[in-house]
Amino acid sequence: MRRIKDLRPIKFENDTLYAINQLLLPEELKWEELKTYQDVAKAIKDMIIRGAPLIGIVGAYGFAIGIKQLVDERKDFSEAQKILDTLKNTRPTAVNLFWALDRIWNKFEKYLNQNKSPEEIVKLLFKEANRIELEDYHANKSIGGYGQVLLPQKANVLTHCNTGALATSGWGTALGVIRSAYEEGKDITVFVDETRPYLQGARLTAWELVYEEIPHYLITDNSAGFLMAMGKIDAIIVGADRITRNGDVANKIGTYSLSVLAKEHNIPFYVAAPTSTFDLETASGKDIVIEERSEDEVKKCGGCDIAPEETKAINYSFDITPAANISAIITEKGIISHIDEEHITKFLKFRG
Ligand code: MRU
Repeated sequence: MRRIKDLRPIKFENDTLYAINQLLLPEELKWEELKTYQDVAKAIKDMIIRGAPLIGIVGAYGFAIGIKQLVDERKDFSEAQKILDTLKNTRPTAVNLFWALDRIWNKFEKYLNQNKSPEEIVKLLFKEANRIELEDYHANKSIGGYGQVLLPQKANVLTHCNTGALATSGWGTALGVIRSAYEEGKDITVFVDETRPYLQGARLTAWELVYEEIPHYLITDNSAGFLMAMGKIDAIIVGADRITRNGDVANKIGTYSLSVLAKEHNIPFYVAAPTSTFDLETASGKDIVIEERSEDEVKKCGGCDIAPEETKAINYSFDITPAANISAIITEKGIISHIDEEHITKFLKFRG
């Protein structure tokens, strides 16, 4: 068994939250201190931190930080709702943010009903945020354990976006499966989509793979189909930002095209995500709000203009992959290989 170096994107020390600034990678590894809930909301919105599970974890810490601000300023809790709303209004698509914030809000209400002191409430909220972070780490290790079994002893695996330690509390979801397979001693080579326009693949996934010494090639997004046609890809594995009741998956823009290509070339297409990514209240992908980001992310690269100023750009951050294009969903509780409403609801009910 190989040994893989640990990597964590956030740390909570002496009541202070620090996060690696993901906008600066791979050139610079800089830890930012997130002092206020407003700092946290800005870090999520501006993608200083990003990745569905991580924005949930950091959102929960942000809520605890906001409540601490109120207590430090000797204010009552009437602004708690505003803190929650500010954090929720940062990014709309990844359900993990809403899941984590609802979870910590419910705890907050419970502690209020139990007449706990403001200081104790703050302490307990930080504890809850920390629990969400640790649970995510264990979930990722478990996803890795279940998922790595699906990969052959020798495999070229294509992945999209960044689903590694930087997108989670550590280890990762889809990249966590790759990491677990490599750790098991499998002969894995990773093909990393650069993932325009934010370049999560080029800047973050490749950086992680260098850090962990896992063999990989960076490819332009539009190379994926040709590599599949040449028989160079054995499996595709991606993460998810939201999985609806019928198994449709919202994930980084470009995922849908990969799934269609995988189907055409008979290549297994796996989605890896913790069960907190399932949104059973949403029936199908067409009901998901897809985040649209600034045109500038498309029209500029590395701070330089790459298109005429007058040109308009479209920048959907995510797309929807229909359940029918997915071979299996890998979770921390096991693998779902019949992807439809009946199997998903049963799986979550009996293993939840
Ligand atoms: O826009 P991002 O970078 O926050 O995108 C989210 C993602 O990292 C992915 O789409 C990912 O596959 C799910 S997170 C493990």
